[in-house]
Amino acid sequence: MRYVMAALAAWAMSVAVAGAQQAADAVQPEAASPVAGTAAPADLRAALAAKQAGVPVRAQNWMVVAAHPLAVQAGADVLAAGGSAADAMVAVQAVLGLVEPQSSGLGGGGFLIWYDAQSGALTTLDGRETAPLRAGPRLFQNDDGTPMGFFDAVVGGLSVGTPGTPALMADAHRRWGTRPWAGLFDAAADLADAGFVVSPRLAALVARDADRLARHAATAAYFLPDGVPVAAGERLRNPAYADTLRRLARAGASAFYGGPVAADIVRAVREQSDNPGVLSATDLAIYEVIEREPVCVDYRAHAVCGMGPPSSGALSVGQILGMVSRFDLAALGPDAPEAWRLIGDASRLAFADRGRYMADSDYVPMPTRGLVDPVYLAGRSALLDRAGALEAVAPGAPAFDHALRLADDESLELPSTTHVSIVDARGNVLSMTSTIENAFGSRVMVRGFLLNNELTDFSFRTHREGVPIANRLEPGKRPRSSMAPTIVLKDGAPVLALGSPGGSRIIGYVAKTLIAWIDWGMDVQQAVALPHLVNRFGTYDLEAGTGAARLAGALQAMGYQTDLRDLNSGLHAIEIGAVLSGGADPRREGIALGD
Ligand code: DON
Repeated sequence: MRYVMAALAAWAMSVAVAGAQQAADAVQPEAASPVAGTAAPADLRAALAAKQAGVPVRAQNWMVVAAHPLAVQAGADVLAAGGSAADAMVAVQAVLGLVEPQSSGLGGGGFLIWYDAQSGALTTLDGRETAPLRAGPRLFQNDDGTPMGFFDAVVGGLSVGTPGTPALMADAHRRWGTRPWAGLFDAAADLADAGFVVSPRLAALVARDADRLARHAATAAYFLPDGVPVAAGERLRNPAYADTLRRLARAGASAFYGGPVAADIVRAVREQSDNPGVLSATDLAIYEVIEREPVCVDYRAHAVCGMGPPSSGALSVGQILGMVSRFDLAALGPDAPEAWRLIGDASRLAFADRGRYMADSDYVPMPTRGLVDPVYLAGRSALLDRAGALEAVAPGAPAFDHALRLADDESLELPSTTHVSIVDARGNVLSMTSTIENAFGSRVMVRGFLLNNELTDFSFRTHREGVPIANRLEPGKRPRSSMAPTIVLKDGAPVLALGSPGGSRIIGYVAKTLIAWIDWGMDVQQAVALPHLVNRFGTYDLEAGTGAARLAGALQAMGYQTDLRDLNSGLHAIEIGAVLSGGADPRREGIALGD
């Protein structure tokens, strides 16, 4: 563990100090205010100190890990009052939509996996945004059929899919909630009225994106008052969001999918002067959360379970783990270039299958079982029996009872999205990744929240040389995702919950964290902080400023191109053992809090 771990300690310390200080700045004014809830400032300080020291937060009864201390605090208050993980999620998500508006919110979508302590069952819920019924296959093409530029498609109404987050919150609460729905919005609504302190991360992202945020009047008025980006430390009030939350609190998700909120969403999408979209009141009225079959893959006596199609998350993470399971990664350790050759090329092989086969299985026949069949993965894994990097990577031929002729797709993903992990006092476990896709989504703001640009997760092209692409846009379809909310079981009992933002690099972040925890015996905080090395399409992305950079030479000698860059994961994990141990990614502002 020479290179990676030695550098990790120094680097994690410097980043965590900065991150923790930022988070403390964001929290402390609130901790003293009447809307702060009941979590003691001392607990928050302890959580920040743990992150700073690079050690997990430990607790006996319950725990919540999310991307902003105020959201964590809201969830902790619900859990401390005896609420379930589903109740806490509603409170956390409502606050995240306010304090981390660039990443997730009512105008977005998400996937949730739930372990039920009483029944032992795992449930996955698909609250993904959906293509409007009027969205044709050429939505993101120029008149001549060529794909539009990515940001030409993102900004404005065109990219907005029917939001799923409010329905997902309601569905989870209906199934597993124990506290009255309405009260779960109080913390967020009060904070929206009173104002929250803008964090350094939010301020930096607003400044960076000012030109795009300026293109929609309501968005500009909120993030760029008088034309100037909101600054870190400023107090930002969002009474429109407070009003929307109180409508949701009073009337449930129907206050979002019908009535004046829905009418305003439709108007904002369709009346964009430069990029009008096609979302209708009908799209909102017919939106449904879909319960899906969890995808589980065995890895070294653990069952790694997560979200199947329309996410490629669990399938791709599962493929990587399945392919490397023949190799003794524990003996190699995290400093061995050979370990990263195996992980990197397994990931490239998984991405080849992802590009060819993975999409919304309600629209495209998908070899879901075939893709993670152990015999198929053993065959794919045999390709790794060589000295250097694979020269070329192609999709495999998983067993399937349909004739498959599909072309490889292309689709881009870029710093938003958020992950929430919660364990409640009854032992229920919730892992949810929530998004509005790009930072600030479509940049269209309605009633205090931003609308997603999730439709740009579809392939902009529909065919390649006459052969259809699985992830092409179709009316009513859900765009393929990489989000990988995960729960790991051992002997049928949950032992770990985790997930991350990061676009299609989510798959690499989650796979790496699982290997660090299972094979390399790291604790959750070490595992999430471990420097990233991610390979999707051949180039090895190495996390700048970390020990990962020192592996560049060895990886190049194996045949890889390497690219040193920031890798913005937001891994939030809880280990469930004799005690609960929480890990919060030092790259973002989140914390773990428990009791
Ligand atoms: O669903 C997906 O896979 C993407 N829309 C997630 C986007 C994301 O994670 C942005 N990254 N930091």
